[in-house]
Amino acid sequence: MAALNKHQLVRAALRARTRAIAPYSRFKVGAALLTGTGEIIGGANVENASYGLTCCAERVALFKALTEGKRNFVALAVVARCPGGVMPCGACRQLLAEFAPRAILLIADSRTPRIIREFSVRELLPVAFGLKPRF
Ligand code: THU
Repeated sequence: MAALNKHQLVRAALRARTRAIAPYSRFKVGAALLTGTGEIIGGANVENASYGLTCCAERVALFKALTEGKRNFVALAVVARCPGGVMPCGACRQLLAEFAPRAILLIADSRTPRIIREFSVRELLPVAFGLKPRF
């Protein structure tokens, strides 16, 4: 992926972050998924009064994309106001391992979005659980 597109994807994640619903933690996270056909799908964390039902920005973006029929994810940008950016939680890593195994993760602090750290899904969740159904 061209360097320009990485910054474009991070910018999309920053835009998605503005729609985070995080009144309890006040920790807003934005995500943006890039599909193989060049489409970008954003997502942000959604919290609610039953705290444990919160959904992370990464999973919101993934669920939106999957239920719109998108597949073959190339990259996922994640931004939050946190030094170095925030890493996906374990639950999101499982979903990424299943539905976006080849995606490159682009992690950035929302205050310094041009500084991007990159990870593979495989390195975040090696030897992942999976039943390999078709989806
Ligand atoms: N959160 C995400 O959206 N993504 C992450 O990678 C880490 C955590 C959200 C969940 C919750 O709304 C808030 O951040 C604090 O944990």
